[in-house]
Amino acid sequence: MLLWWWMLGIATIVFLGAVGMLGIAWVRRRSAGLPILGEREDINKRLVVLFGIGIPTAVLVALFAVANIYLIGQSAPPAAASTSMTVDVIGHQWWWEIRYPGTQAVTANEIHIPTGTRVNVVATTADVIHSFWVPALARKIDTIPGRNNRILMYASRAGTYRGQCAEFCGLQHANMGLEVVAQPPSAFRTWLTNMAAPAQSTTVASAQAGRQLFMSQQCASCHQIRGTSARATVGPDLTHVNSRSTLAAAEIPNDPTHLAAWIANPQAIKPGDRMPDLGLSRSQVQQLVAYLESLH
Ligand code: CUA
Repeated sequence: MLLWWWMLGIATIVFLGAVGMLGIAWVRRRSAGLPILGEREDINKRLVVLFGIGIPTAVLVALFAVANIYLIGQSAPPAAASTSMTVDVIGHQWWWEIRYPGTQAVTANEIHIPTGTRVNVVATTADVIHSFWVPALARKIDTIPGRNNRILMYASRAGTYRGQCAEFCGLQHANMGLEVVAQPPSAFRTWLTNMAAPAQSTTVASAQAGRQLFMSQQCASCHQIRGTSARATVGPDLTHVNSRSTLAAAEIPNDPTHLAAWIANPQAIKPGDRMPDLGLSRSQVQQLVAYLESLH
């Protein structure tokens, strides 16, 4: 992050300098045609060498050196981090599927990791090329059809780190975000155990009605809710959807109001997305919301 601010700062100075020089040249040309080249050719040549070769070379070499120091630092977590684990990240248009090999856990757009642990991210894609990027934790890694690309992710401190698809992948590329939640190892294990379990059943009447709707409407032909008859994998796994903090790949917060708006008219929130407008009544939407809210 620090590197990014440095690059922005230096690029801004260079940009303003270039614009300033252009402005000066323009003013001078307009006012009585002062010579730009000619009697002061030696000075002009020196300026060209300084600004055209000298400064850019110095800036690029410095940034290259600093960027490499940062990248090397990011690639090698402290030796104290002896434990390691693997997370599978699968890019979809336009969301992220997250799997924890060796467990039943499947989730979407929210990766939980334990702090102080080397996390091997194996990045693949279900469709086009995406790029998995969590700037605070690791560099970018492209997801390329037919390839398993790997990157090491490491968080020394607990917290939530924003991630984003960094390769143009279609209409909703900009809304293909995710969150990485780094937690102390014990909290992470509790989370993973819950994530691996099948969905809890509900006794609330409206939620039961919503469950019926989910299984009979189109929902079940795209989504999976483990422990039920819904086993499709076109859209995100919803077994524990209410445990996630965002919806629609980090585009909107996960609360009853936004969830209702999303179900009622997904194309208004994410045009071009594969989630269709189901033409449900308001009470049907509320029943589905009640059911999905019961899935912790
Ligand atoms: Cu996925 Cu851009």
